[in-house]
Amino acid sequence: MHKDIKNILVSEEKLANISKELGKKISEDFKDKTPIFIGLLKGCNPFLSDLLKNITIPCEVDYMRVSSYIGTESKGSITIVNDITTNVKGRDVIIVDDIVDTGRTTSLIKNLFEQRDAKSVTLCCMLDKTEGRVVDVDVKYIGTNVPNEFVVGYGLDYNELYRNLPYIGVLKEKVYNK
Ligand code: IMP
Ligand code: MG
Repeated sequence: MHKDIKNILVSEEKLANISKELGKKISEDFKDKTPIFIGLLKGCNPFLSDLLKNITIPCEVDYMRVSSYIGTESKGSITIVNDITTNVKGRDVIIVDDIVDTGRTTSLIKNLFEQRDAKSVTLCCMLDKTEGRVVDVDVKYIGTNVPNEFVVGYGLDYNELYRNLPYIGVLKEKVYNK
């Protein structure tokens, strides 16, 4: 285990199972469709890579980089740092992100794709931090729940570090208090 990690919450083995099960479920639910997976960078990687290996129906993939902030309105807004190049009008879109915490990012992204006239917008997140929820958002596909602690690994970062860890772990407090 990495020296900065207090404990492992989701093991490599469990992560592999999550991708397998979600991939199977999505493939069944979208049978006879050709959905577009849209990964939210940077955190969606490597979850999306593993998920895609378990998708057995025709599909497309694109990536987007966004940063969300809350304006004076409670709704908040989103800044697109890098947009997708696919036209989503009339298409079934599946948004893939690392974690849903307050729900702001996923909720704003869902609205964005609805405005772009996608036929359907479905959310898929590897982790769900339910205790952090501020905005009510329907995430159809969830890998697993995590407690209200700062987690890193498997795409998730702290100051851009730890994305490369093969598991999800809780960061030691002393790392923040440096
Ligand atoms: P939300 O908009 O509050 O739902 O937050 C979603 C985003 O916040 C995720 O895509 C992550 O980038 C980030 N985030 C939330 N919780 C964590 C965490 O525990 N570790 C790392 N990043 C997190
Ligand atoms: Mg993120």
